[in-house]
Amino acid sequence: MNIGPFIPANRFFVAPMAGVTDRPFRQLCRSLGAGYAVSEMVSSRPDLWHTPKTARRADHTGEPGPIAVQIAGAEPLLMAQAAAYNIDQGAQIIDINMGCPAKKVCNKWAGSAIMQDEALALRIIEAVVAACAPRAVPVTLKMRTGWCQAHKNAVALARSAEGAGVQMITVHGRTREQGYRGQAEYDTIAAVKAAVGVPVVANGDIDSPEKAREVLALTGADAVMIGRAAQGRPWIFREIAHFMASGTRLAPPLVAEVRQLALAHLQDHYSLYGEFLGVRSARKHIGWYVASLPGGADFRQRMNLIENCEQQVAAVADFFDQLNQRMDRIGDAVSYDLPGGKEKYLEATA
Ligand SMILES: Cc1cc2nc3c(=O)[nH]c(=O)nc-3n(C[C@H](O)[C@H](O)[C@H](O)COP(=O)(O)O)c2cc1C
Repeated sequence: MNIGPFIPANRFFVAPMAGVTDRPFRQLCRSLGAGYAVSEMVSSRPDLWHTPKTARRADHTGEPGPIAVQIAGAEPLLMAQAAAYNIDQGAQIIDINMGCPAKKVCNKWAGSAIMQDEALALRIIEAVVAACAPRAVPVTLKMRTGWCQAHKNAVALARSAEGAGVQMITVHGRTREQGYRGQAEYDTIAAVKAAVGVPVVANGDIDSPEKAREVLALTGADAVMIGRAAQGRPWIFREIAHFMASGTRLAPPLVAEVRQLALAHLQDHYSLYGEFLGVRSARKHIGWYVASLPGGADFRQRMNLIENCEQQVAAVADFFDQLNQRMDRIGDAVSYDLPGGKEKYLEATA
């Protein structure tokens, strides 16, 4: 598959997740087998472009290309300007967010709220494509299956988006109304794939190599995108790639390898956020790394009290050193946020 002139390294993509898929995490996922990564969304409001948060989100230092930047907003003109601005900052692909259910975004009539107004959605897409075309920058779209159960308009929107020049469409198999509740469904994604000629990416609840294979088969999609299951488990991409190539499961990583990955991730994280923000925002990543591991729950509590980088690194190193004395491999990590994950998490850490 291709996204305009770009050919992703494989068809296992890491999802954009605000506050999670920052540069260090994207690079980590790419180094562990993700073929493509989209950055966290950037607002289309010009007054927010120069905030430290947006500047951090626009930091792509050392990142393997293509650099894909997601923009969110509801004003066609502002979205077009945001696309142009981000291209000036180094974006090689512009992704339009019509998938985010967050109140913060949707109350401002953006994200998945736009799906409710197909005419507006199309005007946004046309404006962004018009801004990107002279620079030969492909535009992609990320959306949900629809606004609510009664209004699943992903197919209609995908058709008009393709007609307007969008070059790849990602569909999260839930409606906006669902938020993250219930199960993702893949029939609508299959219908989108059947309706358009551009590559389609299937997303939602993919948490294992087997599930990735199943979703690819069910939808006929060109690629799958993984979000929450990669939290604390960025090696899921190489596990999926191995399984798809060989039909066999790759052994889970060694505790020693996870220790090394987590420590390197922390250093990269601190270098982007600095000490104060870095220590605090690293806690969620550390929590995800240890969530399914023996002693993980206790460690999470203790770790939340630590307020400097040196102590945080020492605590994480110590946690994995102790674990290494009990087990060689980490086993199948279970994401706390996935359906069924909490029970498994509580069992594992009881
Ligand atoms: C913490 C978090 C932040 C997210 N932020 C974004 C975002 O900025 N843009 C976007 O298009 N989707 C965002 N999403 C949605 C994900 O990209 C993805 O569509 C969703 O999590 C379903 O995939 P999964 O089941 O593999 O997690 C976010 C999801 C989570 C959990």
